[in-house]
Amino acid sequence: MIDYRHLELRILLSRRNFLTVGAAGIASTLLPGCSSHDPEGMTEWAFPASPTDDTWSDIRREFITTPGMTYMNNASLGMPPRVVAEAVWDGYRALSEDPIRAKHDLSDAIREEVLPDLAAFLGVDPSEVILTRNATESLHLAATGLKLRKGDHVIVTTQEHPAGRQPWRYREAKHGISVSEVFVPSPLEDHDSVVASIKGAITSQTRAIAFCHVTRGGHLYPVKELSTMAREKGIATIVDGAQALGMFPIDLYSLGCDAYAASLHKWLLAPMGGGMLYIRKGARENWASNYSDVSTKDHPNYDPPGTSDLPLKAAVGTALSFVNRIGIDAIEARTRFLSNYLKTRLTEISRIQILSGSTASTSAPGSTIFEMEGVDALESVPAMVDAANIHIDEHQRDGHNAIRISTHYYNSTDDIDRLISILQSW
Ligand SMILES: Cc1ncc(COP(=O)(O)O)c(C=O)c1O
Repeated sequence: MIDYRHLELRILLSRRNFLTVGAAGIASTLLPGCSSHDPEGMTEWAFPASPTDDTWSDIRREFITTPGMTYMNNASLGMPPRVVAEAVWDGYRALSEDPIRAKHDLSDAIREEVLPDLAAFLGVDPSEVILTRNATESLHLAATGLKLRKGDHVIVTTQEHPAGRQPWRYREAKHGISVSEVFVPSPLEDHDSVVASIKGAITSQTRAIAFCHVTRGGHLYPVKELSTMAREKGIATIVDGAQALGMFPIDLYSLGCDAYAASLHKWLLAPMGGGMLYIRKGARENWASNYSDVSTKDHPNYDPPGTSDLPLKAAVGTALSFVNRIGIDAIEARTRFLSNYLKTRLTEISRIQILSGSTASTSAPGSTIFEMEGVDALESVPAMVDAANIHIDEHQRDGHNAIRISTHYYNSTDDIDRLISILQSW
C-alpha cells in the first residue's frame, strides 16, 4: 500500500466524494480520464540498499524528465518528481471545483499535516516554522523583522547570495545599522578559520551574524560552531539553508541557530515557489512582526498574512513524503556517492582544477565546482546543452571562473560519464 501524503491529500480534498464513491473511486472521481495522474499506478519501489545506481533505478522512474535531457543544475532549481506535480494539479483542480471547500481543506492539510511534517523533518516544533515563497523572502523576513537600533552592527560573509546580503544593506540605508562582510576563502578547506574570521569581526555593537549553511559553490559552513559562539555572546544567528535543506539530515535545535531560511524548490524537490522560515521559540522576542501583529501561541508573527498559494504549500507535504519514503540518510549517501564519483572522474582531466573542499566536512554532497583551463564558465553552460543536452551552471564568483555541476539522487554515474566525455573533448 503506497502511503503518500499525496494520496492522503486527495482523500482529504475528496472527503465528500469519498463518502459516496468509496476508496476505489477516489482517483477517478478527482481526475476523470487522467490515468497518468493515478497515484495507485505508482510502482512499488525496491528501497535503495546502497548508494549505487542499480538500487536507485526504481526511484529514477518517478521523474518525468524530458527524454534525452540530463539535468545537473539542481542547485538552481530542483526537478520535482511526478507525484509533486500531480499534487499541485490536485490542489488547483479542487479549487476550481469547489473553491471555498477546497480552500478550507487545503488550509487544514497545511496546518495539520504539512507544517508538522516539515517541523519533524527539521527536528523542531510546528509553531516555529512558516511556509514562504522562497529563501529570498524568508531571509528578508528574518532580516527586516530582527529588532535592531541605529548603530547596531551585523556580520555577513563574502560568499552570501544577494538574498542574504541585500536585506541587511537595506536596513543599513534605512535604519542606520552597519554591516561588515567577512571574507571567506574558496576553496574552503577548514572550519576553524571561518569561525576565527567571523569572531574577529565582532564588536560590542554586533547584534547578528548571517551566513550560509551551504554556499552556492557547495561549501559547507560550521553552523553549530558559529551559532554556539554567537549565542554565548548574545548575538543572533540567521542561517541561509537554501542549498542545504533536502540534501542531508538537518536538526535545527542541535545546530542551535536562531533563524533558518530555506528554499523548498531546490534540494527538497518541492514545487517552484516554496520556501520556509524557522525562528527558534526562545529567540522570538528578538523579532518584531513586519505586519500588523497577529501573533498567537501557534501562529508566528513573522508569517505573511492573506490568501496564498495553498496548492503549492500543500504539495510541499507530498515532496516531504517522497523524501521521507526514500530516507534523508539514504539521499545523503547517494548524493555523496555521486559527487565523489564526479570528483574522481574530473581528476582524469589535467586542465581541470577542482575548487570544492577536499573533505566531507567542508564540501556538501550536491554541488561540485571546478575551473577548466581555456574554458569560459559562462559559455560552457549553453555549450553543454548544445553538445549533449546536459544542463549545468556556472559559478563566476568568489574569484572563480568555475563550472558548477549539481547532482541529486536522480542522477546516475552514466550521466556523469556523459558529462566527462564532453569535457574531455573541449
Ligand atoms: C545560498 C542561496 N541563498 C538563497 C537563494 C535564493 O533562493 P530562492 O530562489 O529560493 O529565493 C539561493 C538561490 O540560488 C541560494 O543559492
